[in-house]
Amino acid sequence: MSRIVMGIESSCDETGVGLVRLHDDGTVELLADEVASSVEQHARFGGVVPEVASRAHLEAMVPTARRAFDTAGLELSDVDAIAVTAGPGLAGALLVGVSAAKAYATALDVPLYGVNHLAGHIAVDTLQHGPLPAPCLALLVSGGHTQLLRVDDIAGKITEIGSTVDDAAGEAYDKVARLLDLPYPGGPPIDKAAKNGDPRAIAFPRGMTGPRDAPFDFSFSGLKTAVARWVEAAERRGDPIPVDNVAASFQEAVADVLTAKAVRAATESGIGTLVISGGVAANSRLSSLAAERCEAAGIELRVPRPRLCTDNGAMIAALGAHVVAAGCTPSSLDFSANPALPVSTVSI
Ligand code: KG4
Ligand code: ZN
Repeated sequence: MSRIVMGIESSCDETGVGLVRLHDDGTVELLADEVASSVEQHARFGGVVPEVASRAHLEAMVPTARRAFDTAGLELSDVDAIAVTAGPGLAGALLVGVSAAKAYATALDVPLYGVNHLAGHIAVDTLQHGPLPAPCLALLVSGGHTQLLRVDDIAGKITEIGSTVDDAAGEAYDKVARLLDLPYPGGPPIDKAAKNGDPRAIAFPRGMTGPRDAPFDFSFSGLKTAVARWVEAAERRGDPIPVDNVAASFQEAVADVLTAKAVRAATESGIGTLVISGGVAANSRLSSLAAERCEAAGIELRVPRPRLCTDNGAMIAALGAHVVAAGCTPSSLDFSANPALPVSTVSI
């Protein structure tokens, strides 16, 4: 007997509702993935404004859920379990999803699972590529996070191997885009501009790659500063800014460090599969360089399609399904959202 799991995501600026079917053999099938984004409301501020995001979640939650049920051809009464992002994320934004999930779970009398957003970014890959081998290594790169994670069990055991000591990779994209007068979010326009530029035009620094640096931690603030200094110097000389070359050289520095560290971590721990997820995984150079380096190292590379990489409800439904399949205890109805939920806590 298969089970329907509803997933609710509201940790940042995307209101997501996903529906999946958990089959008896443990495989998880995507039925619906509806997202309402408030990104345009934040664009003029160059970053997410928490209060604006919370309000947008409140308005979008029920209509987004309705669309998901319509797409899947299901009724609310078909739901067997609900999963919701409990953290990490923006407190006020998380609260909207958690409150909605509690209301749905109470009304439908089904178990509720508060789950980890970061684990969801990894679990989503099972919707496209099937069950994850254990262990596998995950490189999580988004606007808020940059982490290397060892995944022994997607429903229960995730260990951080390294993370950024300052900016997240996506944050670096967003800040550099601002320097180059490109729109927010900065990843897609930099990716596009870089296609016309020379990645070797400017030698930007590779953060934390010295012999004494922690091998699996990342730093992107020095790179961002280097780009700012380079642009300022060109402006002082009155030179036009070669946006394509700056974008390509910056992007090369990010992709180089991320893939080098991920491949080294996999190789040193004898892990044969690397999953790259989060918004920055949609980056064309990151995926092509990762493919090249993984192939050379004999590592299987899995990158979910871009739509699954950015924040969505299907990732939370997928993780919920794995948590249900593992027989984990549901969360008690009085749990709170935790903006700083550690990645080691997959469900609460
Ligand atoms: O995972 P996500 O949708 O939201 C967070 O949880 O942060 O990631 C958003 C981030 C933004 O910083 C955006 O600039 C970046 O992902 N991004 C990209 C690309 N598409 C989105 N970065 C580089 N290249 C892209 N093609
Ligand atoms: Zn995310």
